[in-house]
Amino acid sequence: MAGTYRVTVEPLGKEVECAEDQPILEACLRAGVWLPHSCTHGTCGTCKAEVLDGDVDHGAASSFALLDFERDEGKALLCCAMPRSDVTIEGDVDAEEGVVFHPVRDFVGTVTVLEDVAVDTRRLVLELDQEIDFNPGQYVQVTVPGKDVVRTYSIASPPSQRNSIELHIRRTPGGLASDGWIFATLAEGDRVNLAGPYGNFFLREEREEPAVLIAGGTGLAPMKSMIRHVLEGDCDRTITLYQGARTVDHLYDQEFFTALAERHPDRFVYRPCLSEEDREGYLAGTVLDVLDRDKPTLSGHVGYLCGPPAMVEAAMRVLMGKRLFPRDIYREDFLDEA
Ligand code: FES
Repeated sequence: MAGTYRVTVEPLGKEVECAEDQPILEACLRAGVWLPHSCTHGTCGTCKAEVLDGDVDHGAASSFALLDFERDEGKALLCCAMPRSDVTIEGDVDAEEGVVFHPVRDFVGTVTVLEDVAVDTRRLVLELDQEIDFNPGQYVQVTVPGKDVVRTYSIASPPSQRNSIELHIRRTPGGLASDGWIFATLAEGDRVNLAGPYGNFFLREEREEPAVLIAGGTGLAPMKSMIRHVLEGDCDRTITLYQGARTVDHLYDQEFFTALAERHPDRFVYRPCLSEEDREGYLAGTVLDVLDRDKPTLSGHVGYLCGPPAMVEAAMRVLMGKRLFPRDIYREDFLDEA
């Protein structure tokens, strides 16, 4: 059985028990101690922290996200680092004002919906054995049965729906989880293990500026959760969703968002964009082409971006060119996981 060490999180002075084979971030999130993180697998660098005392095993930390000199200086990626003694870390623990974070927990879900919604894209709905709390935009880790691996999927349903979660899965040819399981053998009635919620990408409730949401591929999922959450409430915040795909066969949920826009004409605008097909009822071009034509400036807005890293990077440049500052932009680089 794995030994257990004590992790002290400064400047909070909080103590957390952490098994020697458990990433420090995981132990903290499960104990209700919030630390910034995004990918949870050692590539984004968001969870970088100072190890003030004690020894850690750096695990699978990427040498790009944690440079050699940073290791030498005593830094670690907490989503990978496992304790080898009692450890004291100093994290960027300033929780954002007004944000309530929910501890990570384990869940078991039963598949109630499994349907193809677009080319190589499936919707998966899991009925949970216990209720889940999360912020709209966060994700869960799903365990691939029989393998010692997890895959991360954003929750597309709103937090008000606590008994079941909707996930959007894109197929990667040869992928262990998508091609080898979700698009192959998974069936309604199957039981699925998952944990969550994780992630820094979520709706900032306190920001009441008009929001521009830009989604590519299954980067739509967290946006759908945020939009449903906002429209269920009675605040008068306005949202514009730019949803991008190559052709109409790659786009999904357009009937859902069109109906929502008709129901909330003052609060929600839907802009479905096709980059490789001209079709009536859709806008021609990439999401960024269409945004560029729509909005000469975005001053006074807040932006949320989720999609393939190249799209997110290009969108950052466009938004900043339209007078948004980095502090006004929230992003999730969304690698469709194999
Ligand atoms: Fe991305 Fe740790 S490196 S959360």
